[in-house]
Amino acid sequence: MSGEVSQSLISGLRPPASNPATSPTLTDALIASVTQKHSHVVSMLKEAIAELGSNHEITFANSMGAEDMVLTDIIQREKLAIEIFSLDTGRLPTETYDLIAATEQTYNTKLKIFFPQAETVENYVRTKGINAFYESIELRKACCHMRKVEPLQRALKGKKAWVTGMRAEQSSTRVDLAFREFDEGNQLEKFNPLSDWTEKEVWAYIRMFNVPYNKLHDQFYPSIGCAPCTRSIAVGEDVRAGRWWWEDPLNKECGLHVK
Ligand code: ADX
Ligand code: SF4
Repeated sequence: MSGEVSQSLISGLRPPASNPATSPTLTDALIASVTQKHSHVVSMLKEAIAELGSNHEITFANSMGAEDMVLTDIIQREKLAIEIFSLDTGRLPTETYDLIAATEQTYNTKLKIFFPQAETVENYVRTKGINAFYESIELRKACCHMRKVEPLQRALKGKKAWVTGMRAEQSSTRVDLAFREFDEGNQLEKFNPLSDWTEKEVWAYIRMFNVPYNKLHDQFYPSIGCAPCTRSIAVGEDVRAGRWWWEDPLNKECGLHVK
């Protein structure tokens, strides 16, 4: 095979060109808005610590998504007394595990990882099937419940508040997302410090501070969850269109964030 032919075969297998959304042009206006919103996040979290406790009574749910990497960086850089945990569903993409390892190395820390209860997962898989979540909304929600919601409840036990990386702009279910709310379901305060951030501001922060991030974002995966329930999106599609893409957009919450 000539060099030319083998080169064109390799090109054919290459992933699509990198996603421009992950490398915005750092204009003065963008840098200024990120700087201002960053200060707001730091003061909001410091005030929360002063009010609710400086002994890790506040915990941050880190999905390792782009927004959550911004918050991880802020918490680590500012040495805020906020615990960081992640829910390992057992079905995360390899790139997410690579990012967990890179994050632990970059910040010289270990994340507190919560796993689902083995017996519950064994029972579901043995009776319903390994990929049963594709079969109905009930089975999908049951899977999210055992792999995410129940471990979340353990992660929040004994805490006074939790922090998320949600943004109002992300979906129709989050448009009225407040910076602070009371989580009735889990009975504790909930902070969404990035509620007013745009996707561009998130990526500007990541580039400005050289924050580690999930390589899938460069391949048009703006929102990343479990591997079998996440796919890439087309340019112009909603940022969460690749999550549970076979379901109605109004159902697209996994149960972590119910009101
Ligand atoms: S999801 O709830 O539908 O999965 P999304 O992926 O947008 O939503 O995440 C929203 C927020 O929920 C994240 O910023 C994070 O705070 C929390 N979260 C989601 N998945 C996890 C996870 N696996 N581990 C820890 N926190 C998570
Ligand atoms: Fe299960 Fe998919 Fe929910 Fe992950 S996102 S917990 S694999 S249904």
